[in-house]
Amino acid sequence: MLNIIAKAEHTHDLTKDEIVKLLATDEYNQELFAAADRVRKRFVGDEVHLRGLIEFSNICKQNCLYCGLRRDNQNLKRYRLTVEQIIDFARKAKSYGYKTIVLQSGEDSSFDVPTMQHIIREIKAMDMALTLSIGEKTREEYAAYKEAGADRYLLRIETTDKALYEALDPGMSFENRMRCLRDLKELGYEVGTGCLVGLPGQTLESLADDILFFKAIDADMIGIGPFIPNPDTPLAGAKGGTFTLSLKVMALTRLLMPDINIPATTAMETLDPHGRIIALQSGANVVMPNVTEGEYRQLYALYPGKICINDTPAHCRACITGKINGIGRKVSAGYGYRQKKKIGQ
Ligand code: 5AD
Ligand code: SF4
Ligand code: FES
Repeated sequence: MLNIIAKAEHTHDLTKDEIVKLLATDEYNQELFAAADRVRKRFVGDEVHLRGLIEFSNICKQNCLYCGLRRDNQNLKRYRLTVEQIIDFARKAKSYGYKTIVLQSGEDSSFDVPTMQHIIREIKAMDMALTLSIGEKTREEYAAYKEAGADRYLLRIETTDKALYEALDPGMSFENRMRCLRDLKELGYEVGTGCLVGLPGQTLESLADDILFFKAIDADMIGIGPFIPNPDTPLAGAKGGTFTLSLKVMALTRLLMPDINIPATTAMETLDPHGRIIALQSGANVVMPNVTEGEYRQLYALYPGKICINDTPAHCRACITGKINGIGRKVSAGYGYRQKKKIGQ
């Protein structure tokens, strides 16, 4: 097993079989995490990139079985921020020192292309990098956002098991999700994707396929988090993913994709009070603190136990900086684009 970890650390290449072997045992986890931490340090350094996350609408036309924002969830008060609020939160995030804004929402069609273009142009005029995370759109829509100045796009594949994907995301097609990721790459976005760990019916083989898929499409960012069952969804009684398995999938992703950006996700910290810091010491180099203000944080309820729901943007900014400095790392002053490196021996 140690030879597989060494191979991953030095060649950044593993077979599916080797990945499954590592996922199947917990005996070498510390070695795996330490190797991912060394690769992180060697390729992307000690700087941590912060992305200010604005959750601007919890209205979603989709019905994913695992997600609290699904359209059939009647137990959720819905909101959408006004254009002015979104721009105001972005300006405040800039004043806290963020260099990237992430605009995230459910699939809310009321934000049409001209509206999104206006928001994108206003934020780009503040001299920030801009990431969108607003779901499946047409190629023309993606092209229009790009033309307005959007730099990056996050769209998790969730799982590369087509049958599982289509069972959990009724009405959505795996083919269309792949089409979206392909269009985004071709249009010149930095593309982020990722998966949920611990979905009902998901196997270790399937998680290995996910990791190999991230590499095959040359994703620029990979966000990995445990599936956390939400009581207001059909998967309320499911088991959910574990912190450790999510961390292992993340560490393996770092070993195979040494120069990409990998966030320490909020869902990781929901399962472990030190989750983001442990993730930053096991391959991650990005954190996405919430910069949404007021009650909206509570209402963006993907899953229960989400951290920071009663905190302010200013508090989170100071909190995360303290934690990052506490492990001898520093907050980056740059935009945090992926710096592609030649992957050699
Ligand atoms: N647990 C963890 N993550 C979830 N997401 C949606 N529902 C859950 C859940 N119950 C994630 C999905 C989606 C992202 C915005 O939130 O991976 O892509
Ligand atoms: Fe909507 Fe995304 Fe939740 Fe699916 S995962 S219901 S698309 S917000
Ligand atoms: Fe929000 Fe620590 S990052 S309270």
